[in-house]
Amino acid sequence: MAEANLEDKKTKIDEAMEWVDARFPATETWEYHLSKYWAPKNHNYYYVFGFLGIIVLVNQLLTGIWLTMNYVPTDERAFASVEYIMRDVNYGWLVRYLHSTGASAFFVVTYIHMYRALAYGSYKAPRELLWFVGMAIFLVLMAEGFMGYLLPWGNMSYWGAQVIISLFGAIPFVGPDIVEWARGDFLMSEVALNRFFALHVVLLPLLLVALVFVHIVALHHVGSNNPDGIEIKKKKDNQGIPLDGIPFWPYSIVKDLFALSVFLFIFLAIVFFAPEMGGYFLEIPNFEKADPLKTPAHIAPVWYYTPFYAMLRAATYPLFGMSAKFWGLVVMGGAIALPLALPWLDKSPVKSIRYKGVLSRWALRIFVVSFLVLGWLGVMPATKTYTIMAQLFTLIYYAYFVLMPWYTTVELTKPEPERVT
Ligand code: HEM
Repeated sequence: MAEANLEDKKTKIDEAMEWVDARFPATETWEYHLSKYWAPKNHNYYYVFGFLGIIVLVNQLLTGIWLTMNYVPTDERAFASVEYIMRDVNYGWLVRYLHSTGASAFFVVTYIHMYRALAYGSYKAPRELLWFVGMAIFLVLMAEGFMGYLLPWGNMSYWGAQVIISLFGAIPFVGPDIVEWARGDFLMSEVALNRFFALHVVLLPLLLVALVFVHIVALHHVGSNNPDGIEIKKKKDNQGIPLDGIPFWPYSIVKDLFALSVFLFIFLAIVFFAPEMGGYFLEIPNFEKADPLKTPAHIAPVWYYTPFYAMLRAATYPLFGMSAKFWGLVVMGGAIALPLALPWLDKSPVKSIRYKGVLSRWALRIFVVSFLVLGWLGVMPATKTYTIMAQLFTLIYYAYFVLMPWYTTVELTKPEPERVT
């Protein structure tokens, strides 16, 4: 009888959902990823940056599509079409600044997101694949930014791409051929502009979206880590729900939305009042059209690449018959690839920096400082003093990774709590 009453209370919406669920796992997906995804209840504000990453990605995709409607990827018209977007297209300036500022925001958000993973040991078992997918996202993001930067066809776009592509010329035997193949011409020209455009608007965004999807699937399979670095799945109630878990929907989402409002406040303030950010978000030589006969006095990449650029320039001696340029490429490639080895380099019995020893704590602090200093050195001219500093801080950057198996083994760790704090 009671059952019959319950049946009576089914609304049209319930019936519609039943119809859908019989054909597509809508409710199941909603529960698995949102209403019954158990987020550790001690998540702090570092945990909003993944969500903000998704928001920035959506912003880039949408504003990118609208820019593409008026942008023309040719030598004749690329630069002029951006000027046209800025001056004549209705709200074109807004769409463009949302996109250019969005590129910098993407890297700010991603670097903080990665720092959080370093601090709480989120790359350790069982999250190694999640970490690798994150690293793949980071690489694709770097390529996406690099290709996008060529598109306005300003003088820094042109010479920046010229410098980076010609680096590959330092690879023995095949280098010069690789450079010619990548450019599709004997110098940077419309051919490169066209293929960068194709990759920037089609292939790389598709890859990014696919990788972010896999990233979330991997995360939800193993569950989120947390600032204590302990697995909440180990302590469950009799219904199988982690004792220290709260439903992602609505609790975490509300926190993410609050963070989003703060983020938008800062982001839009920059978009409206400082979109060039003193030449760091949009560089001054890029307000001049690409000119193969006029090299800018001081070529530097956009701020988010400068730590790696500083490491590239830190190699100044030829060695084993190879040019300094070649070793620069090796040092920079190594610096980008090293984080991939973290799951094996970190031998600590605990995950979070909260319970690691004093050596790990200092290593992380010094590593962050070295990354920031390298970022600053990357925008400075390569004078003798700055080059020596770049060499020193490159060594510190490498030491963080290379010495990790040692310092995570010898240091004393604190006992992890049974439950999250
Ligand atoms: C498009 C860029 C990215 C997006 C949209 C994204 C999205 C997310 C989201 C939504 C989460 C869950 C919420 C959170 O923990 O903040 C997450 C977690 C995570 N992400 Fe990313 N991510 C991106 C890039 C990266 C990169 C570059 C890395 C590292 C190389 C990375 C490593 C991780 C790790 C290790 C976790 C788990 C953290 C934990 O549970 O403690 N992600 N990501």
